[in-house]
Amino acid sequence: MEVLEAIKTRRSIRKYKTTPVDDKTLGLILEAARWAPSWGNTQCWRFVVVSDDDIKSRLADTLNATNPVRDAMRQAPLVIVACAELGESGYKGGELVTDKDEWFMFDVALAMQNLILAAHSLGLGTVHTGLFDAKKAADIVELPQGYCVVEMTPLGYPDQVRDPRPRKEFSEIVFYNRFGVKASS
Ligand SMILES: Cc1cc2nc3c(=O)[nH]c(=O)nc-3n(C[C@H](O)[C@H](O)[C@H](O)COP(=O)(O)O)c2cc1C
Repeated sequence: MEVLEAIKTRRSIRKYKTTPVDDKTLGLILEAARWAPSWGNTQCWRFVVVSDDDIKSRLADTLNATNPVRDAMRQAPLVIVACAELGESGYKGGELVTDKDEWFMFDVALAMQNLILAAHSLGLGTVHTGLFDAKKAADIVELPQGYCVVEMTPLGYPDQVRDPRPRKEFSEIVFYNRFGVKASS
């Protein structure tokens, strides 16, 4: 699938078939994540691929009861837990070098968006999931000290077709030369 088409046709998928994802397909998807750019090429991301039903179910329980991804995590054959090694992204010689201390979030997001678009191009569904207890999820996947869980996604074949969600108009989000200056018509 062509990149712009993948970007425009991807949807957040919250219902999954139980059809397994084969290792070759999973490998292609993880490869897309691996090729994301990162701060100083530090590649702080780590991915835990969860297929164990008990672990998936415990991860699902870290989501609030009203989070629609909760059931999806149990349905989908796989859950990807995206983690970050801390103290790498945004640091030089052990020192923070900008006013922001969370560049690891940015790097993991780039990798996960690559993963999600690659999955979509291969007919698979995903949904970025951020509303959950990340500390509990870290315990469940036995994350060592110095790492944190950033986000999760179910990964599997979609069992729903979704209409696009609305997007803001360019006039609300794009400015020229100075913030707030819109295109002249
Ligand atoms: C960082 C992030 C966290 C998100 N967390 C959740 C979540 O916890 N539960 C959920 O149902 N959707 C979650 N979403 C999905 C958004 O609701 C979804 O991307 C948005 O409504 C646009 O829909 P679309 O992805 O189908 O274009 C999250 C998306 C992002 C980018």
